[in-house]
Amino acid sequence: MNLNVIGGELASETSEFQRLNNYCYQAGLHLTLEWKEGQYWLHSDDLKENPIGIQIDHELKRHEEFFKRSSIVKELLARAVGVKSGVRPKILDLTGGLLGDTLLFLSFGCEVVTLERHPIIAFLIKSSLANAHHPALARLKFVEQDAATFLAENPIPEVVFFDPMFEDANERALPKKEMRIFRSFVGQDQDALEILKLSKQLGAKRLVVKRPRLSVELGPSPQLKFEGKATRYDVYFSI
Ligand SMILES: C[S@@+](CC[C@H](N)C(=O)[O-])C[C@H]1O[C@@H](n2cnc3c(N)ncnc32)[C@H](O)[C@@H]1O
Repeated sequence: MNLNVIGGELASETSEFQRLNNYCYQAGLHLTLEWKEGQYWLHSDDLKENPIGIQIDHELKRHEEFFKRSSIVKELLARAVGVKSGVRPKILDLTGGLLGDTLLFLSFGCEVVTLERHPIIAFLIKSSLANAHHPALARLKFVEQDAATFLAENPIPEVVFFDPMFEDANERALPKKEMRIFRSFVGQDQDALEILKLSKQLGAKRLVVKRPRLSVELGPSPQLKFEGKATRYDVYFSI
């Protein structure tokens, strides 16, 4: 077995288990999923670190508290995706990951469709969504699918957000511990440039690419850049 499951309902005879186990086998991964506090958490056998899981309700409440005290429209990410006073665009988040950005978009008041193609990450997302109850989740649709397929089959919304795993030589800052573990089993998104081109070709009105502040641009020069301490948002508008 390449996938070890402790607790919960993901028994080894289920088709979901077989699908995830086959994925781990093919990718050469040895992973453990543990059922705790109503959802699954992911341990990597190689790294003796805290397990990864997404505490959706907790995160949404944390953002809610934060935005009670500060202005949403001044947030760099909010400005990058075009949130303004009275304007809450619909966002397609192509790269769900641990839902950090998706949950921020929900906190801004946006409607969000989020994609994730990695079966193990998608499983973590689904498990944490099933354990979450925050009212903002009524504005979220999660789809386990590759961005290229989804873009080919669905109309493109006003704003497309893209945060691929794509390292370059200029990326000096070490990512947070959680992201390092994550990277160790998700790997690099080698097709990132193709997805960017496809989103532009399909006429995304506003395409926002998240990059570490010092790293090179993923594609051509963006029309707008929003720079924070560690992060940069490159914004492309369709002509
Ligand atoms: C850097 S992480 C995203 C982190 C996320 N923004 C967050 O705040 O947690 C990239 C994630 O996007 C997924 N991904 C990358 N390219 C994708 C694609 N073309 N289609 C769907 N998911 C993709 C990867 O599997 C990975 O989980």
